[in-house]
Amino acid sequence: MKQPEMQNKVFIVGILAILASAGICRAANGPSAGIANGPSAGITVHVDKPGAAISPILNGIFFEDVNFAGDGGLYPERIKNGSFEFADPMMGWHQNVAGKGVVKGFSVSSDKPLHANNRHFLHARVESESDRLSLTNEGYRGIGVTKGAKFTFSVYARSNTKAAMRLEVELLDAEGRPIAAAQHLSNFAAEWKKHSCSIEATATDAKAKLRIVVQGTGTLDLDMVSLFPQETFNNRPNGLRPDLAQLLKDLKPGFMRFPGGCIVEGRTLDQRYQWKTTIGDLSQRKLILNRWNVEFQAPRNAPDYYQSMGLGFFEYFQLCEDIGALPLPILNCGMACQFNSAELAPLDRLDPYIQDALDLIEFANGSATSAWGAKRAAMGHPAPFRLTMIGVGNEQWGPQYFERFGRFAKAIKAKYPQMILVSGTGPEPADNGGDHRFSSAWSELRKANADLIDEHFYKSPEWFYSQVGRYDSYNRQGPKVFAGEYAAHIQNKRPGWESNTWEAALAEAALMTGLERNGDVVRLASYAPLFGNVDAWQWNPNLIWFDNLRSLGTPSYYVQKLFSTNRGTTILPVELAGVEKMFASATRDDSTRDDATRDDAAGEIILKIVNAEAKSRDIHIDLVGAKDVRATAEVQVLTASDLGAMNTLDKPTNVSPVVGRLKDVGATIQHRFPARSLTVIRIHARRFP
Ligand code: AHR
Repeated sequence: MKQPEMQNKVFIVGILAILASAGICRAANGPSAGIANGPSAGITVHVDKPGAAISPILNGIFFEDVNFAGDGGLYPERIKNGSFEFADPMMGWHQNVAGKGVVKGFSVSSDKPLHANNRHFLHARVESESDRLSLTNEGYRGIGVTKGAKFTFSVYARSNTKAAMRLEVELLDAEGRPIAAAQHLSNFAAEWKKHSCSIEATATDAKAKLRIVVQGTGTLDLDMVSLFPQETFNNRPNGLRPDLAQLLKDLKPGFMRFPGGCIVEGRTLDQRYQWKTTIGDLSQRKLILNRWNVEFQAPRNAPDYYQSMGLGFFEYFQLCEDIGALPLPILNCGMACQFNSAELAPLDRLDPYIQDALDLIEFANGSATSAWGAKRAAMGHPAPFRLTMIGVGNEQWGPQYFERFGRFAKAIKAKYPQMILVSGTGPEPADNGGDHRFSSAWSELRKANADLIDEHFYKSPEWFYSQVGRYDSYNRQGPKVFAGEYAAHIQNKRPGWESNTWEAALAEAALMTGLERNGDVVRLASYAPLFGNVDAWQWNPNLIWFDNLRSLGTPSYYVQKLFSTNRGTTILPVELAGVEKMFASATRDDSTRDDATRDDAAGEIILKIVNAEAKSRDIHIDLVGAKDVRATAEVQVLTASDLGAMNTLDKPTNVSPVVGRLKDVGATIQHRFPARSLTVIRIHARRFP
C-alpha cells in the first residue's frame, strides 16, 4: 500500500504543535531536527501471527483504605467518629459549653448500647432550659460542602426524660459562621430510634464543621451521628463520593482488588480485617483501628485513622458492579503483618479463617435463601455478585504461609472448584540479599497448583525499565501472574502528590508494554495504592489524589487509563529494531468487528509505544499481513514538558492524553514519536490474515 509519508509527517508536526500549545510537550521541531535515530529504526508488528488471547481483565484497580482512601475519601460520611468508638471516644469532637447550670455536660457511656459491636455513645445531661450544650465535629481534616449541596443528618437517640429534649443541628464554615439553616429534632423516645433531617449548604467550604446543640431539661443519648451527602455515585444509599468513583469507572477496570493490602493482615490478628463485621446495618458494623494510623512518623501518622466500615464488603461488591469490574477480595490467611507482629493463627485454629472465606463466597454468590446470600439480599441485592476470584493472604512469605495457603486451597476448591485463588510472593519481586522468599514462593506455590501468584514491585523508574522483558521468559505452564501492586517510586521522594511525576508514569508505561506483550501469563495487574488524601496521607505515590472537594488523576492514572481502555483481545508479536529506550506492545481488538457485514475478521490493531528517550524519533511501523487498512487512525499521545511534570488540584489535567487522528495510514506507517511519550494508535483493518 502506498505510504504517503510526507502528509503523515505534516500531520504529526500538527499534533506536536497542539501538544506544545497545550504546554505539555516540547515545541515541535522541524521535520528532522532533534531526532534520535535514522529512518531505518522500526517497529514490526506481526498481524499475520496472532498470539494468545490477552486477559480480558488484565488492567484492574487496587483499593486499600490507606491515605484516608475510605473514610475521609471514597466513603463520603462527613462525621469522624460519629459512633464514639475510637480509642479516645471524643476524638474529633470539641465541646463548647454555654449557659449556666449546676450539673451539665457530655459524657461517654456504654450503658445499654445500640449494639454489642457499637458499645459507646454520647450521654448529654442538661439541667436548665437556659443551657445550650454544644459539640462540634471537625470532620476529616474539615467537612467538605459545596453551595447548594444537600445532606442528610441522622442520629440514633433516646431520652429518659418526660420534658421535651431538643437537638439543634448547624453547619458552620471554617470560621464558625453558619452556612445552613439550623435544623431541629425532637420527640425522642425512651428506646433507641433513628432521627433525621435534611440540611442544605449555603456556601462552599472544604473545612466546614458540624455543630450539635442539646437543649431541654433531662438527658439525651446520641449515637451514630451522621452527615451524609444526598448525591452519591449511581445514587446508591450509603453510596460513594461521585467524583472519585467516576475516576475509577473511567479506567474501565477489569477487576477491583479490595480491601488491601496490609490492612487485611492487621498489626496483630485481633486487628485484622474481618468482612463479616463490615456488612448489615451501619449501627451494627464493628469499627477497627486502621493499621496505617501510626505506622509512620509525623507528619504521616494519623492517630485519628480508624475504619468505620461504612464502606464494607457489600459496598465494595456494589462498587465493582457499578464500575464493571470483577471483585477480587483478599482475605486474612491466619497471619498478621510480617513487618509488624507476624502473629500466626495456629494451624489447629485456622478453621474460622477458612470458614470466613467459604461464607464470603456464599455471601457473594449464594442464592437469596442461603444463610449468607440472605444477608446480601436483605441489604438490597438478591442477585448474586459475580465472585470468581479470592486472594488468600496479602504480602505473606515463608513456610507458615505455604501451609496455610494449602489448607485454604483444599477447603475452597473442594466446595467451589471453579474459584480462582490468588496467592502471594511477599513484598519483593525477587530474592533479596540471600533470602529465598520470592523463589521459594514460586516453587512452593507451583507445587501447590496455585492459580494466580501475586507479585509486588515498588521500585525505581530504572528498575521498571530493566524489567520490561521480565515476563518474556516466564514459564507458560502452571500458575499465572497477578502483578498485584506496583508503582515507580522516584528517588529523593517528594511529599504527597509531588512524587507522582511524569518520570514515574513513563517508566510504568514502559513496563506495562511488557505486561501486555505477556498478557497470556500476566493475567491481572494493578497499580497501588489507589487514593491519597492530600491532607492526610501515609503512603506515596498514589494513583489519584483528592482533598475534601477536588480530585485529580496523576500522570500514572492516565497511563493506566490508556492501557485499560485500549486493551485489545489478542496479543500481536512486536519487534523493535535500531532503537534504544523504546518499548512497544501490540494487540488486535476483535470486539470492534463489524457484525453487520458479517466480516468476522475485521477489527483494530492497537499499538502502544513508549519513547523514553529525551528526543523525538521518526519510526517506521510495519503491520505485516494487515489488509484493507483504513486510511485514518486514532492517536492518543501522553507526554510532558519535563520528567518532573505532575498534575495538581489546580491543574488536574496538566499531564493528560491529547487525541488526534493520523491520515494516510497503510500497512506501513512513518511516524514521529515525541520525546518521553506514550503513544497509542488504533488502526482499523477490514481483514486480518
Ligand atoms: O500499597 C501499600 C502497601 O504496600 C500495601 O498495603 C502492601 O500490600 C504493600 O506493602
